[in-house]
Amino acid sequence: MTSAEFNCKGDDYDVLLEWLGTGLLTSSGNKWFTHRKALTPAFHFKILDNFAPVFDSKSTILARKLLENGGESVKIFPLVKLYTLDVIVETAMGTASEAQSKQSSYTLAVEEIAAIAFFRMFNRIFYSNFMFQFHKLYEPYKRCLKTIHDFTLSVIEKRRLTLLNSPAATDKTVSQVPGDSELGSKSKKALLDVLLQTNIDGRPLTNEEIREEVDTFMFAGHDTTASAITFLLYSLAKHPEIQQKVYEEITSVIGEDKDTPVNISFLNNLKYLDLVIKESLRIFPPVPFITRTALKEVNLAGLVIPADTNLTIGIYNMHHNAEYFPEPERFLPERFEAERGAEKLNPYAYVPFSAGGRNCIGQKFAQYKSLPSMKSNRRFRK
Ligand code: HEM
Repeated sequence: MTSAEFNCKGDDYDVLLEWLGTGLLTSSGNKWFTHRKALTPAFHFKILDNFAPVFDSKSTILARKLLENGGESVKIFPLVKLYTLDVIVETAMGTASEAQSKQSSYTLAVEEIAAIAFFRMFNRIFYSNFMFQFHKLYEPYKRCLKTIHDFTLSVIEKRRLTLLNSPAATDKTVSQVPGDSELGSKSKKALLDVLLQTNIDGRPLTNEEIREEVDTFMFAGHDTTASAITFLLYSLAKHPEIQQKVYEEITSVIGEDKDTPVNISFLNNLKYLDLVIKESLRIFPPVPFITRTALKEVNLAGLVIPADTNLTIGIYNMHHNAEYFPEPERFLPERFEAERGAEKLNPYAYVPFSAGGRNCIGQKFAQYKSLPSMKSNRRFRK
């Protein structure tokens, strides 16, 4: 995970190329390096702080929808996915999104194309571009591609024009939709604005380069967070005593008033919830495996790996390794308490966000908490 020789992604990611181009997730070499360096400030806390009202208002909509269900069982993943899509559209592009209440052709297309990409990753016949054109999903795939690319490019073009005409406008982006007053009035900067103001090798990014990165954030940011939230809710439902503890902690920090806006200082005080989230990401890592291609022959712990070999890093398997996580199938948030034995372990045993240079750039965005607890990997030092 730390070696530049394994910096290049495996060929599984090829099914994403037409959609994402070579954005951060799929690029390699110099393009990846320069873009990663340039995009890192986009995930700075100052930028993320702008997004708290978006997280808050969109999760209120989700909670209301669940309440309206009147306590009946509900298929949670589709609802959560619309919530995370809403959040990513507003924060990445600065465009108002109401995916949770209205059908949007763009968010539907993102959902559909992601499902098609996953289907192809696990199907070695239709993984091939040649074979895929004969599959019944090919037409919807092409339709989704067009919807997504047209939408992203039009948002970029409009935003670039606004910026050219009034550079100060970036301070007031994110949702200028009537009725969305909690967002419209404050000073906000979307990830897109940071991209529009970024120079790489002394020149601004082209619309196409920005499109690749915005589409990448949409993919990498919505499905992962939706899985994480869904499995967290599932884990809480399976362990009512843990759910009760989490509930008590939340009410002790935030109070009983459910309408209190949530901010980062509240979240930083939810210490037990933090352990629960970590344990949920351990048992159910939203990205269960990642792959790399070895660019040249390499000796890995005595095993010779020929050049051009695809390697899989099994995050799910690693997180279920009893050597590092005793009783791995048990949901035990306390195993992440600092004073427990976890610190004897290897820093790379727990990697829900991967590790090394190609770790998740959206980790802070996904967890939205302050830096000290971000260093969770460090706890696993040998
Ligand atoms: C719980 C939520 C998330 C999890 C578990 C997660 C996990 C991961 C993992 C394991 C990788 C490494 C992929 C690889 O090596 O192929 C990764 C990369 C990446 N993630 Fe996330 N992610 C999450 C949320 C997000 C969010 C919210 C965003 C953006 C807003 C994001 C953007 C990215 C990008 C752009 C990369 C590629 C980074 C690079 O190669 O430089 N992720 N993520």
